[in-house]
Formats: sequence, structure tokens, C-alpha cells
Amino acid sequence: MTILKSTLNALCSLRYATMWFLLTAGMLLACVASARGQLTDNIDDMLNWCLDGKHHKSRPGPEDKLHRFCSPWRERACCTANISRALHTSSLHGFTYDHCPGRTMSAECRWYFQRDHCFYECSPNIGPWVTKVDMKIRNERFVDVPLCATHCTMWFEACKRDFTCTDNWTRNFRWKNGTNHCPAGAPCFTFEQVYQTADNFCEKVWDHSWKFTADTEPCMQLWFDPAQGNPNDAVARIGAERVVAAGAWSLPPPAAAWLVAAALAAAARP
Ligand SMILES: *[C@@H]1O[C@H](CO)[C@@H](O)[C@H](O)[C@H]1NC(C)=O
Ligand SMILES: *[C@@H]1O[C@H](CO)[C@@H](O)[C@H](O)[C@H]1NC(C)=O
Ligand SMILES: *[C@@H]1O[C@H](CO)[C@@H](O)[C@H](O)[C@H]1NC(C)=O
Repeated sequence: MTILKSTLNALCSLRYATMWFLLTAGMLLACVASARGQLTDNIDDMLNWCLDGKHHKSRPGPEDKLHRFCSPWRERACCTANISRALHTSSLHGFTYDHCPGRTMSAECRWYFQRDHCFYECSPNIGPWVTKVDMKIRNERFVDVPLCATHCTMWFEACKRDFTCTDNWTRNFRWKNGTNHCPAGAPCFTFEQVYQTADNFCEKVWDHSWKFTADTEPCMQLWFDPAQGNPNDAVARIGAERVVAAGAWSLPPPAAAWLVAAALAAAARP
């Protein structure tokens, strides 16, 4: 009897030891996970974030002279008036939308890319989605920013019949002479042939900067009426709260699944 009891005790303490080990491992993994994710867990910083890019200001602030498609951001912008003007008239980063030989992007399509470019340079609402990168034109980028389905769809509809030679504009061009060229031997097709659908287009063109998101979910607008304030402020706040809530306890999914399974197995033992 006593032998049985002490064996049981040993098994139990083993079980608790296993649990403590799993918890400790979990907390370690959580630290690793949060260090790899967003760049801050301070909500105010996240809501006033300007990308560490070539032309961005260090903090957002008023800019009453913002040009055309960038003007909605004039109350609080990460871009200067100069940059807002330059991105409408020239290729700020040497990037050309007219990369298909003999083709010029339609004005309608270009307008949407200019709005998108304004968002990139001017928006102070990207903090919750920023990660570090090592590129010549920037040290940070944003990933999976929720873009409202209607705005993505209008953008794609405007560009459907325009031409391009690659789906992944962030990664696939060859840079020569300070501008982008089609990958060697890549033929040009219409956007509709290359991307097929609006969601595929928005998510691929800038390598997952955007995430196609139903209008019923919190999502970003590429343009808005500044008289009503910036509707993306509220979207960024929700994003920031999610980052903080996920915060210290977020685990990489496989590790989390493994831990839950192990804990359940330990608890299920008699
Ligand atoms: C804006 O651009 C003009 C001319 O390109 C330049 O002289 C001026 O210094 C720029 N201003 C700022 C604030 O960058
Ligand atoms: C690079 O630019 C120069 C001047 O703009 C031009 O003469 C030359 O052909 C270009 N080279 C290539 C490879 O496009
Ligand atoms: C873009 O290209 C890079 C490098 O090839 C790749 O890692 C990434 O997944 C691509 N993005 C998309 C959206 O296909």
C-alpha cells in the first residue's frame, strides 16, 4: 500500500513538475514572441507612429499645405507638403508605374496608386502593424493593415485593364539606373489576368502591406472627408488594443497548440 502511495505521489509531483516546466517554457516563448512582433506595446506611441522611412517625419503633426490626394491627412500627417506634392508628379523613390514597354498607366489607375502612396507617406495610423525591415528606402514597413473591401475593389476596378509584368511589386522588379524594370523575360499582362481578384491584387502588389477586409470589420480607408476627422484613427486604436491584449501571452501558434495539448494530456491523467 505505502509503495503504491509513494509511487502515486512521485507520479503526481512529476505531473506538477511537467506543468511548471510547460508554464515556464510558455512564458519564455511568450517573451520571444512579443520581442519579435510589434515594435512597442505603448498605445500612445502606436497611435502616433510614423514609419522610419526615407521621407517620413519622426512624429505626425499638422501640415496645412498637403497636396491633392494627400490633403485628407493635413490635421495629422507623417508627410511634408513637399513630399505630398512630389509623389503626385514624379517618382519619389525612382519607382515607375509605367514599367511595361510602350504602356502608360491610365489616369484612373494612377489616381488610386497616388492615394495609396499618400497613405504610405502620410498616415499616422499604421503603428500596430509596423515591423522592422532592412531596405535602402526604409527601416520599417507595415504588414497586413486592414484595407476596406470597397476601397480595394474600386482601386482594382480602376486598374483592371492596365498592364504589369509581375504581381509582387515590392520584391520582383529589377532595379537599374535608379528605376524599376520588369524581371528578365517577364511578359506584360493586364492586372485582371495577373491578379484575377481585387483581394488578391491588394494583398500581393505591395507584398502583404494590405489585408483585404470586409467593410463591416475595422478597416482603413484610402481617402476620407477630413471634415469628419480621420476614420482610420479608430481603426488604429482597435489594432493597438489588440496588440496590447495579445501582448505578453501571445505564443507562436505551433508552440501554443503543443502546450495546450500537453497540459490537457497532463490534466487527463488519473
Ligand atoms: C521643399 O522643396 C523645395 C524645392 O524643391 C526646397 O527648396 C525646400 O527646402 C523643401 N522644403 C522642405 C521643408 O523640405
Ligand atoms: C540609364 O539612363 C541613361 C540616362 O538617363 C540612359 O542613357 C541609359 O540608356 C539608361 N540605361 C539603361 C540600362 O536603361
Ligand atoms: C513576394 O516575393 C517575396 C520574395 O520572393 C516572397 O517572399 C513573398 O511571399 C511574395 N509576396 C507575395 C504577396 O506573393
